[in-house]
Amino acid sequence: MDKMEQLNRELEEKNLVGYWNIVRGRGDDYEPKSSFEPCMWKWKDVSAAIDRAGETLGLEDSFRRFIAFRTPALKMTTTHTMLMGAQLVKPGEIAKAHRHVMGAIRFVIRGGGAQTTVNGEPFPMEPGDLITTPGLTWHDHYNGSAKPIIWLDGADGPFLRFLEAAFGERYEKDQQPQSRPVSMSTFELAAARPSWVSAKSIQPPPYRYRWEETEKTLSALGERPGDPYDGILLRYVDPLNGGPTLPTVSCEMQMLRPGESTKEHRHTSSAIYHVFRGKGFTVIDGERHEWETGDSFTVPLWRWHSHGNSGREPAMLFGMNDRPILDAFGFYREEGQKV
Ligand SMILES: [Fe+2]
Ligand SMILES: [Fe+2]
Repeated sequence: MDKMEQLNRELEEKNLVGYWNIVRGRGDDYEPKSSFEPCMWKWKDVSAAIDRAGETLGLEDSFRRFIAFRTPALKMTTTHTMLMGAQLVKPGEIAKAHRHVMGAIRFVIRGGGAQTTVNGEPFPMEPGDLITTPGLTWHDHYNGSAKPIIWLDGADGPFLRFLEAAFGERYEKDQQPQSRPVSMSTFELAAARPSWVSAKSIQPPPYRYRWEETEKTLSALGERPGDPYDGILLRYVDPLNGGPTLPTVSCEMQMLRPGESTKEHRHTSSAIYHVFRGKGFTVIDGERHEWETGDSFTVPLWRWHSHGNSGREPAMLFGMNDRPILDAFGFYREEGQKV
């Protein structure tokens, strides 16, 4: 055994490790390299899987009939920081009340007429709506309509698990009492709002971003130049302070006009996209990934990427990214092709 190996072994026995082993092979010039590759989930596969789960499981067996988008290198999660997947609630079913430190969002993709109650307020759920359940808000779901509803659930679970700070709690009954009128937050958080409403905590208030409003905004901005890397990009902001959707994740809706293709950029946040409408492609590190309505895919951090619409109608991409985490600590970096 040479002297270096001897030293390494002596250190290891004392639970010590030398710098030369910590940075082994890395040197002083380096940049991020994601631990996972881009992944795509085609709607026909997700839809068939969720239908099969609908035939196989009751909510008594599964608590939530949720199927996650799993990236192979990460085993149980979608990106290293976020989890996304599809949830089915059949007519008459209740997904029981609970709460957790994990922050979550729902984006409705099929069906409608259901509701999510968050901290006593019922929020109607219609296609294209985004509903937030920020950390530690009580939430349960009920489908009182005659047709199944499918929405995407997105959450910051993987990041929270890395911090080992997760708590969860079941409500004493299946559903919490409805203590606030339907959509009360729309009025409390309107541009002209009551004097007693103000930002009191780091968590935003639970909120429903109605598709009707989002769609109107997109069409009003349809002739504007937009963002060179993302087209017409809307961010779903905290209605109280204009900050990100949740402290950990930013949700976005972006519209690519027919024939539009964006410039390439890369950044240290990762994104999960869902094609709400239309068809097109995303080029990641030179590789073209085709998508159409219902598909979902990831763009891992620090990969060059651009998007394009190859259809005749506007393409609408719903996105969730972990940029707020990076921004909070000054870790966010971005590089773009010259405009
Ligand atoms: Fe939950
Ligand atoms: Fe991007």
